Amino acid sequence: MANVTVINTDRVTGSINRNIYGHFSEHLGRCIYEGIWVGEDSDIPNTKGIRNDVLEALRKLSLPVLRWPGGCFADEYHWRDGIGPRETRKRMINTHWGGVVENNHFGTHEFLLLCELLGCEPYINGNVGSGTVQEMQEWVEYMTFDGESPMANERAANGRKEPWKVSYFGVGNENWGCGGNMRPEYYADLYRRYQTYVRNYGGNRIFRIACGASDFDYNWTEVLMREAGRYMDGLTLHYYTITHNWQHKGSATEFETSEWFETLRKSLVMDELLKKHSTIMDKYDPQKRISLIVDEWGTWHDVEPGTNPGFLYQQNTMRDALVAAATLHIFHKHCDRVRMANLAQTVNVLQSVVLTEGARMALTPTYHVFDMFQVHHDAEALDVSHQADDYSAGGSSIPQTSVSASRGKDGLIHISMCNLSHDEPAELKFELRGLAGQPDNGLKFSGTLLQGGALNAHNSFEQPEQVSPTELTAIEQNADGTIAVTLPPASVAVLRVG
Ligand code: AHR
Repeated sequence: MANVTVINTDRVTGSINRNIYGHFSEHLGRCIYEGIWVGEDSDIPNTKGIRNDVLEALRKLSLPVLRWPGGCFADEYHWRDGIGPRETRKRMINTHWGGVVENNHFGTHEFLLLCELLGCEPYINGNVGSGTVQEMQEWVEYMTFDGESPMANERAANGRKEPWKVSYFGVGNENWGCGGNMRPEYYADLYRRYQTYVRNYGGNRIFRIACGASDFDYNWTEVLMREAGRYMDGLTLHYYTITHNWQHKGSATEFETSEWFETLRKSLVMDELLKKHSTIMDKYDPQKRISLIVDEWGTWHDVEPGTNPGFLYQQNTMRDALVAAATLHIFHKHCDRVRMANLAQTVNVLQSVVLTEGARMALTPTYHVFDMFQVHHDAEALDVSHQADDYSAGGSSIPQTSVSASRGKDGLIHISMCNLSHDEPAELKFELRGLAGQPDNGLKFSGTLLQGGALNAHNSFEQPEQVSPTELTAIEQNADGTIAVTLPPASVAVLRVG
């Protein structure tokens, strides 16, 4: 049997919000410090303290939205510690992540500068767990009030007269766990109270995001929607792909083929989660006004040997690239409800797109997937009917291939696809319906392929180009007008039509 796909190019199923391609950067390990912020006096070339190589790499991804400062760090963060002259900022202990000194050199001004340099939307996560309503209200006023006010005056005194535009604001993070160990009923009431003071000043309009569930906690979604749905614009969901369990997650680079399979199987659980959480949201919000925001997702492996366990530093192989591609396809499928997602985390933490070591930088296979999939940003999702072969191991089965298609604002159609099998190539056959021209009279096909050879192929600082995209050449136009693409095992590709 072949992997057969019919793409109805004249049937649009939704819009793929570019924010689905968002990222998350926490004060955790070497994500902010070293990974993004090196300080103005560093030997590493930088722009006002932000390292240029990482800036450039992230710019190339057209990163749409960046979440900060946490994570668990958010509910311990007091924003006033991170403003004013850097040399007098409070030094504190990052109790959650590694117990290291946090000197607060990267604060509100630095983060919003980073967003300006990247041309992305900031998504600020406020503190409910250990912060006050007044603190949250004043932070929003500090960032966005235009004119004369105590906070706006303080902002100007700290060097920024103009307010920033802040669109996305999260009221707490994981408040069922590290953000205060609350019950959903209690958090729902707190959310209603805190969000009241997250005000729209001047022309700034804030999209208020409530803390949502982890994994399969459908009761949390139910209670939040029932008790506080009318006060929110977005509700979050966190889901990490862990090969084994929290005590023994498994190595990022040394794994068996059974672990390859299990990781991919677990990443596909995202589909079931989105379906079930969306069904609950539909009950209270049939118009789909409220977005489901997967603001933490990705693989979570054991840390690299010899690194601080609290820093969550892991390598990133073709296995992670496959998880990224298959998950992004799932987000496309649910784009009527899922309008933002934030991969955890941007640099040096969990499933990063960029790794750094001193002045050196490497782009991960996951980076290349995000790069290749840029064509889907804000594109129209097309109706895809994909029949996949089974990929089986250890008594379980998952689809061998995954496909998604969209039409961009330029009218071009792109079909992204991946072959999850560790050892079988995939013969994919595409029938494109509803196109004015037929493949044999004018349409051209070209594409990009990401494959690594070995399943654990990755980019190191010594060999940063080990895994990088190449041209997809195995494309054939059949006499019946269908298109055949052969994907090597463990690979991701994007086909361009037109
Ligand atoms: O991304 C790492 C941590 O995972 C975040 O701080 C927290 O929100 C989640 O548990």
